[in-house]
Amino acid sequence: MSDAAFQKCINPDCGAEFDCSQVFFECPRCGELLDACYNWDKMEVPNNLSDFGKRWASRDNRLDFSGVWRFRELLNFCADQYKVTIGEGQTILQQNDRVAEYVGIKPGRLHLQYEGLNPSGSFKDNGMAAAFSHATAVGAKSCACASTGNTSASVALYAHHCGLKCTVFVGSGRIAFGKLSQAMDYGAQTIQILGDFDDCMRQVQAVCKKLGLYLLNSLNPFRLEGQKTIMYRIIEGLGWQVPDWIIVPGGNLGNSSAFGKAFDELKQLGLIEKIPRLAIINATGADTLTDLVNNKKLTWNAGRVDQKIIDDYYADLTARSFSPRTCASAIEISRPVNLKKCLRAIDICNGLVRAVTDEQICDAKAIIGAYGLGCEPASAATIAGLRHLVADGVVGKDQTVACVLTGHLLKDPDLTVKYHRDKLGQFSNLPVEAPNDLDAIIKLIS
Ligand code: F0G
Repeated sequence: MSDAAFQKCINPDCGAEFDCSQVFFECPRCGELLDACYNWDKMEVPNNLSDFGKRWASRDNRLDFSGVWRFRELLNFCADQYKVTIGEGQTILQQNDRVAEYVGIKPGRLHLQYEGLNPSGSFKDNGMAAAFSHATAVGAKSCACASTGNTSASVALYAHHCGLKCTVFVGSGRIAFGKLSQAMDYGAQTIQILGDFDDCMRQVQAVCKKLGLYLLNSLNPFRLEGQKTIMYRIIEGLGWQVPDWIIVPGGNLGNSSAFGKAFDELKQLGLIEKIPRLAIINATGADTLTDLVNNKKLTWNAGRVDQKIIDDYYADLTARSFSPRTCASAIEISRPVNLKKCLRAIDICNGLVRAVTDEQICDAKAIIGAYGLGCEPASAATIAGLRHLVADGVVGKDQTVACVLTGHLLKDPDLTVKYHRDKLGQFSNLPVEAPNDLDAIIKLIS
């Protein structure tokens, strides 16, 4: 392990520090979340972000090829020999004027970051490259995760690549088929719990503690280090400029937490001058963050988050036997484990939170499909959310915006087919049945 990296509790009243060779998924002293931290003075960090661009010329080096590890000086918690990569992070930042028109911003301003182009089809691979590097460095033999689908697909893929035994917990009937097929095909032991994601998350933590399995959910501080690189690639895609806004879907809140940390570090290192604003978009059927931030006024408060507001909120969910419901199954989560880190990111990035309906998500998804490279429903929440923010005058028509499209269109083909075939939205594109006859087919086309 690097002696310039360490783990630190995010609770300012605790602030306990631990060596990176130790495996914790919460602070062993106070139970709060942990960060991976760096003594930057002891690390070699380039003077300019654009220096990382030089690595495009040495892509025969596996670490320079990786879209995560070519930024390795910004997440250097383990020696290169342990760094795991399967070629993640070869993603595209696409300027898209047709989708810009849909959300109401000027041509040239909207950029879509296609994380669905990762090996397992979602942004999770950025995090797993980093987390499996840590797992390998500490000699883990078995691992586990809870998932709404993409984490399990990514964990299963990296686990067999690294030779770790792998168990994934998914909510029965709560996971899109593309994702379930991946977990099974990649050889994970797949446990379908009769419950939702939050139930799976609770169970997997208990199981990992009891059986000593290495946990790969975003409670794992090293995983979030890998997810920081999505922001580096957006900056790179903009010619090493920072956008005005980053828009991201909110589920378990790992991405938003990682993005806030990334920008905070880049600013501290003098590698960027301004921090973009962050908008986190929930689905209305799974909007704990929106409710807590916008209605209950929960804030980071310099790390002294009002725990009573959270406890009361969750007690109410339990009393009502509430289980979240949205067609964007990836973000169907009501007790996000990274809530506090996300509040910190909102603080760092002058961020805000919105919720959008399933109908708005599905329509936005169809627009991204028609004019872009497509994405899964949760990813489309970004465009649906941005449309609101532009209409409300929060995001200016002249501002530069990057939306993180977190997962591939083919993750959830059932929803896509249903939307189009059953004419569920204003952009449904119905398939037409034709007789097996040339003249009739030609007549249909013309
Ligand atoms: N988009 C997609 C496609 C996802 O799979 C997820 C999370 C999110 C957005 C939300 O990201 O948790 O960082 O706020 N999926 C997790 C999973 C929960 O198990 O695959 P987050």
